[in-house]
Amino acid sequence: MAQASGSADVPDMGRRQFMNLLAFGTVTGTFVGALYPIVKYFVPPSSGGKGGGVIAKDALGNDIVVSEFLENHLPGDRTLAQGLKGDPTYVVVTEDKALEDYGLNAVCTHLGCVVPWNASANRFICPCHGSQYDNTGKVVRGPAPLSLGLVHATVTETDKLAFTPWTETDFRTGEEPWWS
Ligand code: FES
Repeated sequence: MAQASGSADVPDMGRRQFMNLLAFGTVTGTFVGALYPIVKYFVPPSSGGKGGGVIAKDALGNDIVVSEFLENHLPGDRTLAQGLKGDPTYVVVTEDKALEDYGLNAVCTHLGCVVPWNASANRFICPCHGSQYDNTGKVVRGPAPLSLGLVHATVTETDKLAFTPWTETDFRTGEEPWWS
């Protein structure tokens, strides 16, 4: 009897393992399936497959909705948002009231103060030791040794603003990006 019940257990074990495998495959498949559009979302077509993007957030931690943002900001505005790794990052409104396709990391390249935008001077001027950056974030006065870091800024299909790493040549200096 014991032997009979023992041998009856063998197919049961096999079936259980099979069911576990099936469940694991289903969960994994669902997970990968759910992950794919998210991963794809953060990979801009021009980045050659590099991801690591975030949705820009405003000062209250809400996702920036681009159409609302443009309604509430003037041409030439530079507004701080939460960017990659939580870094304060400027969103730039162009003169024709669109979003610039780059954002500027607001951390001073001297000793790390957040650099405010000075609209009347048309520059970013660091309050800590006086470094200055032009309206594209290019350093024009030390002691800061380098320009502000760049990120790509793109509008998603759902009208949100996405920041992704900038790994290409710095268009302001023609040099390789020091921040990547
Ligand atoms: Fe900005 Fe020193 S930290 S000039």
